[in-house]
Amino acid sequence: MMRYVIIPVVVLIAIVSAGLSQAGYRETFEREFMLSPWSIAKGETSACIQCHTSDNMGPEMHEVTRQWKESWHAKNNISCHDCHGGAPEDASMSMMHQRGFKGSPKDVDIPEFCGTCHIAILDNYLKSGHGETFIATAEGPSCVTCHGSHNIQQASMDIINEQLCSQCHTYERAKEMKQALFMVESKLNTIDKDMKRLKLLGIATERQEKAFFRNHAEFRALFHSIDVDAVRIKSSDYAQKLEIIESEINDSFNKLAMRRNVSAYLFLLFIGLSIVVFLLSKSYEQQ
Ligand code: HEC
Ligand code: HEC
Ligand code: HEC
Ligand code: HEC
Ligand code: HEC
Repeated sequence: MMRYVIIPVVVLIAIVSAGLSQAGYRETFEREFMLSPWSIAKGETSACIQCHTSDNMGPEMHEVTRQWKESWHAKNNISCHDCHGGAPEDASMSMMHQRGFKGSPKDVDIPEFCGTCHIAILDNYLKSGHGETFIATAEGPSCVTCHGSHNIQQASMDIINEQLCSQCHTYERAKEMKQALFMVESKLNTIDKDMKRLKLLGIATERQEKAFFRNHAEFRALFHSIDVDAVRIKSSDYAQKLEIIESEINDSFNKLAMRRNVSAYLFLLFIGLSIVVFLLSKSYEQQ
């Protein structure tokens, strides 16, 4: 009689102990896929997009929406009205000024337009030779010169290239900037990849993530000052801070390897136990 109880219990314990190493995954999943607070909920239709992609709109209008759909903004739920204002839920009123519609920004207003969300970057940009010249004479680059407006992708050092950066001055100055950014950028990329791997394995990385994002955002806003010396000085600061995060991540990987060994061991132990219990109960039966 006993074996009918014991065997399922032992098997259950074995399964639970193996499952424990996966705990935390659900939370990670939920955090990863939470909607951003900016936009109307995903799946809801936007009158802006519906009307701007309708048949009576010209090809340039369709092109705007097509580009936006492939942008990093679209992936992050930043839609037409988040930049242009207006009322996406109300087709007849959506482009009224009373509903906050801003229209297409004039060139000189573009930095402020983007800067309502990218505040630290706007700040560095306005104080830079780029920002000052652009505001004064329109001869410097604005945000959309380097990033585009509807097809904006994740930023990286690749934006610094000869074709773009030699339009107004020699590429030499741009290249120096790229060299100054290089070390910290590569460290940031490695840490980012490692944290994603840890997360997939169900390891909590909140603390490291916070520190990482703070450094990451500060550092990448820094480019917009276009002050090569300042970037060089800050680079060694950031490199040190990132080394601390890096070593914590390496610790996590080591702990993870240990934990896996332990849970594999427990699992085998319980399998072994259930076989013993099973055989024992068999031999009782035969008596
Ligand atoms: C019922 C159709 C319709 C809807 C809904 C609509 N638009 Fe438009 N939109 C147009 C047409 C037509 C034009 C081009 C003619 C014009 O400039 O008035 C236009 C032009 C624009 C422009 C360029 C204006 C300029 O200053 O050059 C922007 C930006 C824009 N729409 C954004 C939006 C946003 C954001 C929404 C949603 C909040 C929206 N539209 C909703 C039909 C629509
Ligand atoms: C990240 C902010 C941003 C988002 C999101 C965005 N726009 Fe724009 N849009 C701009 C900027 C900046 C301009 C100014 C023109 C330029 O410099 O390219 C512009 C210009 C326009 C124009 C004027 C025509 C043109 O190409 O210059 C239209 C029409 C327009 N946007 C429609 C839309 C629609 C429709 C959506 C949603 C599918 C949208 N925009 C989403 C930033 C944005
Ligand atoms: C001269 C070209 C140029 C101009 C002008 C420019 N950017 Fe950038 N931007 C870059 C480059 C290059 C990077 C990547 C820097 C790096 O990898 O360290 C970047 C990075 C970014 C990022 C990513 C930062 C992060 O935290 O990941 C954002 C957002 C951004 N820019 C927005 C803006 C806005 C808003 C403006 C206007 C106020 C602007 N940029 C003007 C070239 C430019
Ligand atoms: C309504 C708020 C808002 C406005 C306005 C806005 N952005 Fe963004 N932007 C975001 C959010 C949210 C993200 C995604 C989170 C992130 O990557 O930082 C983003 C991401 C970006 C990135 C990629 C950052 C990265 O991780 O590499 C760039 C570049 C960028 N925006 C540039 C611009 C430019 C240029 C404009 C103006 C044409 C603009 N943004 C206007 C909210 C905004
Ligand atoms: C639309 C014109 C334009 C474009 C495009 C442009 N710049 Fe500039 N750049 C300027 C102006 C204007 C200045 C400030 C005046 C000066 O120092 O010559 C400047 C200055 C600089 C400086 C020197 C700052 C200093 O104090 O020595 C650096 C570095 C720089 N730009 C980097 C870049 C990079 C990197 C790119 C490409 C991603 C780029 N620029 C694209 C116009 C431009």
